[in-house]
Amino acid sequence: MDAVETETDTTRVAGILAEFETAETLKHASTGLREAGYKRFEAYSPFPVHGLYETMGRRRTILPLLVFGGGLAGCMIALLLQWWTNAIDYPYLISGKPFFSLPANIPITFELIILLGALSAFGGVMVLNNLPELFHPLFGCDKFRRATTDGFFIGVDIGDKKFDETETADLLRRLSATDVQIYHHPQTEQRIPGYIMAAAALIVALALLPPLGIALFRYAPKSQPRIHLVSDMDHQPKYLPQQFSPLFEDTRAMRPPVPGTVAVDAVIDDTHYLLGQVDGKPADTIPIAVTTETMRRGRERYDIFCATCHGLAGDGDGITSQLAFEREEPKWVKPLSYYNESVVSQPVGQIFQTISDGVRTMPGYKYQIPTEDRWAIVLYVRALQRSRSATIEDVPEELRKHLQSETAKNPNRAR
Ligand code: HEC
Repeated sequence: MDAVETETDTTRVAGILAEFETAETLKHASTGLREAGYKRFEAYSPFPVHGLYETMGRRRTILPLLVFGGGLAGCMIALLLQWWTNAIDYPYLISGKPFFSLPANIPITFELIILLGALSAFGGVMVLNNLPELFHPLFGCDKFRRATTDGFFIGVDIGDKKFDETETADLLRRLSATDVQIYHHPQTEQRIPGYIMAAAALIVALALLPPLGIALFRYAPKSQPRIHLVSDMDHQPKYLPQQFSPLFEDTRAMRPPVPGTVAVDAVIDDTHYLLGQVDGKPADTIPIAVTTETMRRGRERYDIFCATCHGLAGDGDGITSQLAFEREEPKWVKPLSYYNESVVSQPVGQIFQTISDGVRTMPGYKYQIPTEDRWAIVLYVRALQRSRSATIEDVPEELRKHLQSETAKNPNRAR
């Protein structure tokens, strides 16, 4: 034990310290003291002496009970918390398990049992032993230092009801104490130094700041924008109009359009090709090359995009339409036949617009079908219409002659 230099105050008795020769006499003396009715005394020895605790008449410590209580509390708190949050306050079905499932709740329960058990063990040891105790009047006795090497001592506290300077000393001598002395309180009150107290107060004050700040930010009138500990999109790095940007040579944050690019819905010059319009009216001519190749392409695209509703021949009897009638869909409108006079008389530009933007109940297809292909489809639709209203002039000359001679030979097969 460290030597503590203290002037003792001889007017303030703290207790009596008796020294003994052996562990046996120490045990004997503590039995004697207990039988004489003393309660507030303590035996000190440099090593554990078996049976000493019992001879002093001390009861078993209640620490195990405290630890058990802590564990039990942890168990109850964990189960109650999980039951309340998962099954009552915010029922949440996970993998079809019951809302309150004991096996699923064991890990947290286990952890809390251990946590509260350990905390009560720690706290219990501190409280039951009157810790932390920074100073004891016995530290003032020179002899007492030997308690950790080869001395056996009994200290009787002045707080004991039976304490009496002479009587207690006599009793201890009779109980074969080799030396009996009175020990005193130190002259100066042992206090925690001021600077430690000041530091502690400062720490406590600082610890109050974060919760105070949180409460302030949460309940005080909102500032614009809010204050963010972790900044969110209010504070994203971005340029506002008319700002300076070091990124570009001309230092303008607002950028002109990149040369050569076209916005999705920009106004474009070639209205004939892109919108099917000439001078604001539906175009009469097809702006792409009319070849067998585009015709074939148009038929292929038509079969893919239009035939489901309009039918392969354009009569408005595609499978979608048939199904809708079979199911008696109340909202279904039969696609108009291309051979209807109102469609036959349309300029190609109008059919192109119908394909691009839709018409009444038909949806537009400009995002699915490229412009070139839309015109190819128009071409094919025109060809379909032609196929039913063809005149003899539409047949190539050679074929016409051939057909005419065939008809002359066999009038019955002409039609
Ligand atoms: C989802 C089914 C559906 C598809 C696919 C479809 N249409 Fe239509 N179309 C209709 C319906 C329905 C109408 C009749 C609209 C009405 O009268 O309300 C119609 C009408 C039309 C008309 C007549 C427009 C008018 O002015 O009366 C044309 C021409 C036409 N479609 C062409 C096409 C072409 C070409 C395609 C392929 C790119 C196509 N449609 C794809 C359902 C469809």
